[in-house]
Amino acid sequence: MDSTKQPSFNLGIVGHVDHGKTTLTKLLSGKWTDTHSEEIKRGITIKLGYTNFSIYKDSNKYSTDKNNGEFQKLISIVDAPGHESFMATMISGSAIMDYALLVVAANEKCPQPQTIEHIKMLELAGIKKIIVLQNKIDLVTKEEALENFKEIQEFLSTTPYKDSTVIPISAQYSANVSILLEEILENFENPIHKEDENAQMFIVRSFDINKPGQDYSKLKGGILGGAIKQGSLRVGDKIEIKPGRVKIANQKIETIPIIATIKGLKSDKEDLDVAIPGGSVAVMTELDPVLTQSDTLVGQVAGLPGTLPDPLSEITFEPHLFDEIVTVNKTYDVKPIYQSEPLMMIINSLTTVGIVSATKGESKVTVKLKKPVMGFEDDRVVIFRQVEPKKWKIVGYGLVKL
Ligand code: GTP
Ligand code: MG
Repeated sequence: MDSTKQPSFNLGIVGHVDHGKTTLTKLLSGKWTDTHSEEIKRGITIKLGYTNFSIYKDSNKYSTDKNNGEFQKLISIVDAPGHESFMATMISGSAIMDYALLVVAANEKCPQPQTIEHIKMLELAGIKKIIVLQNKIDLVTKEEALENFKEIQEFLSTTPYKDSTVIPISAQYSANVSILLEEILENFENPIHKEDENAQMFIVRSFDINKPGQDYSKLKGGILGGAIKQGSLRVGDKIEIKPGRVKIANQKIETIPIIATIKGLKSDKEDLDVAIPGGSVAVMTELDPVLTQSDTLVGQVAGLPGTLPDPLSEITFEPHLFDEIVTVNKTYDVKPIYQSEPLMMIINSLTTVGIVSATKGESKVTVKLKKPVMGFEDDRVVIFRQVEPKKWKIVGYGLVKL
């Protein structure tokens, strides 16, 4: 595999709204990932942003400029939205993150609500290491920066990420980038991937790149974006996408897998012949773009035909619940999950709801799902419970047991 073309891992960029995640993404990759009209209008990130960047080394200086030293590593970025309304999107993104940078603005008190929530979600997603960036240091005095640095460290000491490096930066004015890049290389080793197993690609976005009214003969097929969790995919391979199309007739759910051929593979702008785990990839297909438009296939899994398990209409997991949920104005005790309780869950980027159909003490819960999902042993399920009418709160996570 060519490590200059296929990224080594997915790096999440998380943190409270407006703290500078997309500005940092632009600093590293050169790309402004807020491209949707609503994002530009409101000046906030709404959808996950995807791009890649490379690190180069020249004597003891690190940079992202290819004219500046020797190639070290190519990395994919998943830029998450920080606004509280888009927590579910951030959680979907966390399913494919290997590591994360937590961005904290130096000119606000730490922690802010989504600083806390995002760190919790990283923990739930099983992310072991993060680097914390104290951003916007150009906006504060030295004394204020030191005071804020202390607040960040105090906050971190209450989380599983207490030993994380904290680096003061300015994403706007490129301050301390070399140190950040060096710390990324030092802290985030390449994850161990199972390349020899059957391919599994988790789809986190799907789209149609054709312009409205485009000449039919020039139509491009549907595109899938995501991360390969294991195995490899090649141009020319036939793939099966599951659950595929979902039909509901006489209250019975039927799923029909979608079969497609891989017409091309890309990571950011680079064409690949073969894609393996690490970073995000796009798969070009000949599928009718109607099938892939507007993220229709998010949460589905692609693999070689006949190798994927059947979708689950019922899911069993081992719950790991918080002791309590703290919100700005209220604290809720978290009681065990009970029979017939309605739950909302995010499983491999897919949001679904269901009713608890069985419980085995506090060690296992089975939920009958409204929408079938793909689930693998020990996959992580983020669990939401209704704490008040229409108010869903995350109460913990579950590990899938088949
Ligand atoms: P959401 O994705 O909506 O949560 O926001 P974000 O964290 O991506 O913040 P974004 O990068 O959009 O930046 C928010 C504002 O802060 C913009 O006006 C940026 O120009 C500004 N900003 C970001 N980094 C810095 C910095 O280092 N210094 C200064 N002065 N401003 C910054
Ligand atoms: Mg943003």
